[in-house]
Amino acid sequence: MKYRNLGPFSVSELGLGCASYWGKKHFSEQQAIRVVSAAIDQGVNYFDTGASYSGGHAEQRLGRILKHHVTDSELFISSKVGTEVGHFGRLYKNFSYQGILSSCERSLRRLGVNQLSVLFLHGPNPEDFNDHTYQALSDLKQSGKVALVGVNTFNPHIIKLTQQSQRFDVLMTDFNVFKPQQIETINQTRQMGMDVVIAGALGGALYSRQWRRISGVKSLWYWLRAYKNNRKQLQAAHYFDFLNKYPNWHATQLALAYVLNDPHFSSALVGSTSEHHIQQLADVSGRMVPNEVMIKIKQAQQQVNCT
Ligand SMILES: NC(=O)c1ccc[n+]([C@@H]2O[C@H](COP(=O)([O-])OP(=O)(O)OC[C@H]3O[C@@H](n4cnc5c(N)ncnc54)[C@H](OP(=O)(O)O)[C@@H]3O)[C@@H](O)[C@H]2O)c1
Repeated sequence: MKYRNLGPFSVSELGLGCASYWGKKHFSEQQAIRVVSAAIDQGVNYFDTGASYSGGHAEQRLGRILKHHVTDSELFISSKVGTEVGHFGRLYKNFSYQGILSSCERSLRRLGVNQLSVLFLHGPNPEDFNDHTYQALSDLKQSGKVALVGVNTFNPHIIKLTQQSQRFDVLMTDFNVFKPQQIETINQTRQMGMDVVIAGALGGALYSRQWRRISGVKSLWYWLRAYKNNRKQLQAAHYFDFLNKYPNWHATQLALAYVLNDPHFSSALVGSTSEHHIQQLADVSGRMVPNEVMIKIKQAQQQVNCT
């Protein structure tokens, strides 16, 4: 596994997102443990989660796993504030001074750690970039409860605000085969002195033939999530079907290699419920995308742009 800099830390260029199906109550905790263990065995030291992920269960699950199953590893852990789980699982925003402080305290308790490596604002709106927010983050840093602060957003306007505010150490945004324009965003952000973490680095694996075979509750859940949140990418996925045709490469491996080819971000996060998938993805670190595949990816990106 290759490592890159994130602030003063060294993080694996592949990070594990502890969210979505992995954190669901009905998903086996034993299997969730196997996924985390496989990641650690492969050299992954970056684990990302969020207060609202998997209905609030993901953070608690990661905390239990770290406490009972991971004893001697130095891990880099990020979590998020500002999106909360309300009645009947409905999400709502709370970026108030007190809201940020108490959410961070709860994350530390749930995760069983004294410090979060990064605390991200989770999907803030323009009005959340205010003195109360900055004060809360500064107080948390001062007290040592968080090492770095950041913003998690895919919204270009919010990315601009994040860059201009000069209050944050890290931006978490999306970059994958469907979003080549983010290479520019990563570069700009780095030039403004911030580090970048990539979310959704596989683009949900929507181009993978394996992913498209709906074979049970989990794959149906993934499909419905893509239909709800990423309909455009779901429609564009067939342009990337050629990724399934290379011997010695799985489609997701090629898509991840395309992302890791960019040296300017710190870590690319992937989500998975399978230890085998994590092993496959970790194998990509240090492998170059074959030239002919890179050309085909760029052609497919142009075709998607033209439709
Ligand atoms: N997407 C977002 O909106 C978002 C927002 C903020 C932060 N993040 C961060 O980014 C992380 C990753 O994002 P994500 O989970 O949404 O998307 P992702 O990593 O792009 O895609 C996850 C999908 O890829 C499949 N997959 C993983 N490895 C595979 C392999 N080797 N072969 C075939 N399929 C494979 C997973 O299925 P299996 O379970 O079967 O492996 C799952 O369906 C999150 O966990 C979170 O930490 C994401």
